[in-house]
Amino acid sequence: SEEMYLLYHGLLLPKETHSPESLKFAREYTFTDSDVLAVTYPKSGTIWMQEILPLLLNGGDLTPIHTIPNWDRTPWLEETRLALVVDQLASPRALVSHLPYHLMPPSFLASKAKVIYVMRNPKDVMVSSYYFHQMAGFLHDPGTFEEFMESFLEGRVLFGKWTDHVKSWKHTELGDRILYITYEEMVQELPAALRRMSDFLGRNLSEEVIQKIAENCSFETMKTNTMSNFSLIPKVLMDDNKSPFLRKGMVGDWKNHFSAEQLTRFISVISKELENESFSLPWS
Ligand code: PPS
Repeated sequence: SEEMYLLYHGLLLPKETHSPESLKFAREYTFTDSDVLAVTYPKSGTIWMQEILPLLLNGGDLTPIHTIPNWDRTPWLEETRLALVVDQLASPRALVSHLPYHLMPPSFLASKAKVIYVMRNPKDVMVSSYYFHQMAGFLHDPGTFEEFMESFLEGRVLFGKWTDHVKSWKHTELGDRILYITYEEMVQELPAALRRMSDFLGRNLSEEVIQKIAENCSFETMKTNTMSNFSLIPKVLMDDNKSPFLRKGMVGDWKNHFSAEQLTRFISVISKELENESFSLPWS
């Protein structure tokens, strides 16, 4: 799989969407105080935030989600598309990133740009990633679920270990510039999660606008939005027939995949890696 990935500070990144130039571009990107960034470990709610952020920032105008594909509307900081669209981004700019905190560009640290870190139960992250590896032509074959679990626990997957990512973003000096939210909280009550985000971003949105955003960012709506469901991408790169990108959008699908032994092993590895941490998580 060497030809599919490049290695960046020990992290595996798919060459389909990343290059040495795109990583240099990210490093040199100039964050301004009004920029808003959503950070996620892959499969934790990234494209959901690509839908949500523009609407929170523009007061619920649906034009961007109906006219601009998500990868150009709310681009990934580290991916090749950013350089091509950076001059066309709406203001305030919204970006997403999978980078760990220590690889954020110097201008991010110097700015007052706000960041929303979205976390998801790692067991569901792993299940989602397993199916994503089956449908994405630019990722290696995941093998069996058991084999993929070992790769995931060892960090031989996109953007490295889940625990390293979470630790890195839990130990920042960003103070009130960072908001932590969970995918589960968003699934459970999206309007309440949107309200938290909107307050954090200093937006004063009416209940009506929050409801409108929630409806237009639901799993069902996104699944039929060609600007957000990756149906514009050639099948060789993403094959919906193998598994849709917007696959289930649920909490706890891991229960349909883990054996009792796998669950014990998974929990013991994750909890050991987090045992000396000052924070605790709502799941293991
Ligand atoms: S990626 O490749 O990192 O950008 O993937 P990412 O977008 O982070 O994660 C994909 C999973 O998020 C689910 N998703 C949603 N769930 C609920 N509601 C909405 N609106 C929504 N949008 C995306 C998507 O279905 C993937 O999870 P699974 O469990 O595979 O369904």
